[in-house]
Amino acid sequence: MKTVVLYASSHGSTRRVVKTLAETVQFSFDCFDVKNLTDSSSMGKYDVFLFFSPTYGNEELQPDMEKFIVNFRLDMSSKYYAICELGNYYGYEADFGAMKIIRHHLEKLSGKELVGPLSMDSLPKKDWTAFATWCGKLNQTLRETHE
Ligand SMILES: Cc1cc2nc3c(=O)[nH]c(=O)nc-3n(C[C@H](O)[C@H](O)[C@H](O)COP(=O)(O)O)c2cc1C
Repeated sequence: MKTVVLYASSHGSTRRVVKTLAETVQFSFDCFDVKNLTDSSSMGKYDVFLFFSPTYGNEELQPDMEKFIVNFRLDMSSKYYAICELGNYYGYEADFGAMKIIRHHLEKLSGKELVGPLSMDSLPKKDWTAFATWCGKLNQTLRETHE
């Protein structure tokens, strides 16, 4: 399954998490900062889409991701996705921030969720333990999907 990571980052912490992903998972992937993509036209060749986005403002998307996602018009009916949102989630309900918006959009495009989303606390400290657990789920699910 050809996999792509699509991320946005204003202050570098999401970029760092994506870098750690490459060192943690057992599958290969292409990787793009969405601010360098104009639209989703080059994305048809991928089977699995991993989105990484921080939450900003009042439960909103980071601006580059917002621009990208409103123009993301791929038929996702034969494709899988998973979402990792970063932000300050201590004390809040899960599915609080950016992830909810991305997920809604991908559901409308008929995408299938590969593994449940991760709301990764990243402020003041990154929750690397939760991240490692989520990477383990990605590894396992992609391995099973290959079998
Ligand atoms: C101005 C500002 C607003 C933020 N607003 C939110 C928010 O509404 N909800 C949230 O969960 N996190 C919020 N955060 C935390 C960021 O999502 C978090 O620091 C994230 O790791 C930043 O990722 P980046 O460095 O890749 O841009 C905010 C951070 C800043 C600096």
